[in-house]
Amino acid sequence: MASSLIDGRWDYGASDADIFASIAVGIPEDGMPGFGAVMDAAQVEALVRLMREAED
Ligand code: HEM
Repeated sequence: MASSLIDGRWDYGASDADIFASIAVGIPEDGMPGFGAVMDAAQVEALVRLMREAED
C-alpha cells in the first residue's frame, strides 16, 4: 500500500529533488512505478508543487 503524499512524512527523501525522483524513477524495491517515460519534467514538477501545496 502506498501511504499519504500530503501528510508531511517522506520515507524516500523530503526535498523537491527527492520527490521528483520518486515520481520519475519510481521506487522499484517498493512497487512504485516510475512515470519518467510518460510525463515530461514540467509535468513531474507540477505534481511536486501540487503535493507541497496540499501538505498538512
Ligand atoms: C502520478 C501518480 C503517482 C505519484 C505522483 C506518486 C508519488 C509517489 C511519491 C512522491 C512517493 C514517495 C513517498 C515518500 O517519500 O514517502 C511514492 C511512493 C510509493 N508509491 Fe507512488 N505515486 C504515483 C503512483 C503510484 C502507483 C500507480 C502506485 C502503485 C501501483 C504507487 C505505489 C507507491 C508505493 C508502493 C510507494 C512506496 C510506499 C510509500 O512511500 O508509501 N504509486 N509515490
